[in-house]
Amino acid sequence: MRVVAVTGLKGGVGKTSTAVNLAALAASEGHRTVLWDLDPQGAATFCLALRPKLRGGADKLVRGGRNGLLDVSRRTMVENLRVVPADGTTREIDKLLWSSNKPTKLIRRLIAGLKNDADVLVLDCPPGLSPVVEAVAGVADILLVPVIPEPLPFRALARFSDFLIDTRAASPEILGPFLSMVDRRKPMHRRIEAEILASGKFLGAAIPESSAVARMGEEQVPAVVSSPYSLAGREYRKLWAEALERAGA
Ligand SMILES: Nc1ncnc2c1ncn2[C@@H]1O[C@H](COP(=O)(O)OP(=O)(O)OP(=O)(O)O)[C@@H](O)[C@H]1O
Ligand SMILES: [Mg+2]
Repeated sequence: MRVVAVTGLKGGVGKTSTAVNLAALAASEGHRTVLWDLDPQGAATFCLALRPKLRGGADKLVRGGRNGLLDVSRRTMVENLRVVPADGTTREIDKLLWSSNKPTKLIRRLIAGLKNDADVLVLDCPPGLSPVVEAVAGVADILLVPVIPEPLPFRALARFSDFLIDTRAASPEILGPFLSMVDRRKPMHRRIEAEILASGKFLGAAIPESSAVARMGEEQVPAVVSSPYSLAGREYRKLWAEALERAGA
């Protein structure tokens, strides 16, 4: 099973949109896919038209048995795609991990329970540097980090990399930064995009600012399903292919 996490320090940069679209793409390729919504905002749950209800709550999930994730996962309108929904209790995961002295071990045990039932696990993380994110970094094959092509987000990416080193959660080599919400009408976006591509430090996909993606919050359908031929759809497919390759599949 491949574990692909979408994470980063900054909020509102396209993490959830990416997690939902990549999970839908993985599922459409026939991979048995689980998307775990780790953000109490529950945006990934919402974008896939599920109720924000985690059966039994986060406490039971984290302390529970091996089949925990599969048991609380729900089917979606996308074939092969199941979601572990978020609800108000999801915020307790941080506290539970914080109070255990082996947060990564807890998450790893939960994920191991999915091994026979899923080929791909996509994790939608909350923004920031929290125990959940630290634990996820320890189990993921790749950490996808969306970056808007403006100066400040680059500082956030550097802080995120420092966080991985300081906590020894993971090697920064598992970071897969990519450009998100690119608006090529803006000279700054065009300039920074060109610099990034030349540096070779980012993945090649660049997700454009796109009405197809923005509509997910209204239509509750992944953009790659509702608008597969949009530019955003194409770039998400490119990102998924790169993520899988980097994740060692
Ligand atoms: N490529 C895009 N084009 C247009 N709108 C986008 C795009 N990506 C995301 N958005 C919109 O921007 C907002 C934030 O996106 P999203 O929820 O994916 O970000 P996030 O990083 O997960 O946010 P948070 O940190 O709050 O979890 C949403 O309203 C979403 O519809
Ligand atoms: Mg989000």
